[in-house]
Amino acid sequence: MLKEYYFDNSATSNPKPDIVIEKVTNVLKNLNGNPGRSAYNKAIKINREIFSVREKIAKFFNIKNPLEIAFTKNASESLNIAIKGCNFKNCHIITSVLEHNSVLRPLHYLEQEKNVALSFITPEISDEKLEKSILDKINENTKAIVINHISNVTGYIFNIDIIGNICKKHNILFIVDASQSAGFLDIDVIKSNIDILCFTGHKSLFGIQGIGGIYVNKSITIHPILEGGTGSFSKLERQPLVMPEALECGTLNTPGIISLGTGIDYINKIGLNNIQEHEIQLTNLFIENLKNIDDIIIYGELDIKRGPVVSINIKNIPSSELASILSEEYNICTRSGFHCAPLAHKFLKTYEIGTVRFSFGYKNTMEEINFATNKIKNIVNFINKRS
Ligand SMILES: Cc1ncc(COP(=O)(O)O)c(C=O)c1O
Repeated sequence: MLKEYYFDNSATSNPKPDIVIEKVTNVLKNLNGNPGRSAYNKAIKINREIFSVREKIAKFFNIKNPLEIAFTKNASESLNIAIKGCNFKNCHIITSVLEHNSVLRPLHYLEQEKNVALSFITPEISDEKLEKSILDKINENTKAIVINHISNVTGYIFNIDIIGNICKKHNILFIVDASQSAGFLDIDVIKSNIDILCFTGHKSLFGIQGIGGIYVNKSITIHPILEGGTGSFSKLERQPLVMPEALECGTLNTPGIISLGTGIDYINKIGLNNIQEHEIQLTNLFIENLKNIDDIIIYGELDIKRGPVVSINIKNIPSSELASILSEEYNICTRSGFHCAPLAHKFLKTYEIGTVRFSFGYKNTMEEINFATNKIKNIVNFINKRS
């Protein structure tokens, strides 16, 4: 069987660390009680484990109070809660052209149903230009900035320190989508003045699918978009507004939460810096190997730091065809098409053709990158000979 070359870590990280799989299996076998509901030993124990995951997440993002974190099923749910739960109406929100549909669709809901005007910033090569482009868009009605920290199409990194600073100065809510950055960049909600942080567990945090989270600064009251059982305040007619119960209704995803906590243990053991350094080396090698080939287009600025995500096209081949040749001939796993980010594709002028996305993870090696880029070069040569 052909070795698998997995370059789809932006979709979900693979492989999951052994310790994550072992811990989840152990919890399912030995601690399968319902947390926060019952009073027997197993249920109490798993409740404690869940609290310790809140503590790990809090430490990881420099969140002062672990109870300001609620578990969700993914970043999409967290972003819906953030964008729809803050009662935005008759106001103005700034976002970017690099947003995922999990930001764009809830924002368009506000635009269509709540009379919210939207403005879009674009990636900029300097901090000064970024700052100016945001300041130019702020008006007296601006209530929030919602930003994708790292683009899942080009790996572009928005400087959240600068944006957070602007938000603080202008008393604007700062909502960050950390789906692609948590587990790659160091995120400090205090340093970056983040009011609401939305993250997913199954990407660079190494958890399993179906777990995510949201941090909400205590100064903000979020209105739940779901109501139901919380295991507490049972006599209240409506969902309690205290965190985390406000945003956690129904039985929690215990295996997912445990996987996320163990994923963070794994990152801490290796060191976030080491993970970042390795993934930057992989990304740089990939770009270096392909950047001088005429028929290959690499999207985004090549000379600035980016996340471990690179979108490419070979001229005159549909992205879906390239991805299927890579998969069928060489067992190389990529993603082709539109990556749930339609405005990014308009911006990159790939709205009709999409891109082939390579996204790297800690387990990828330099040899794997060289293998993939050699195969891409072979495909280019083959096409040139054919035409
Ligand atoms: C930038 C960005 N935001 C949000 C999401 C949504 O994450 P999830 O599918 O875990 O909800 C993704 C997923 O690819 C993403 O890349």
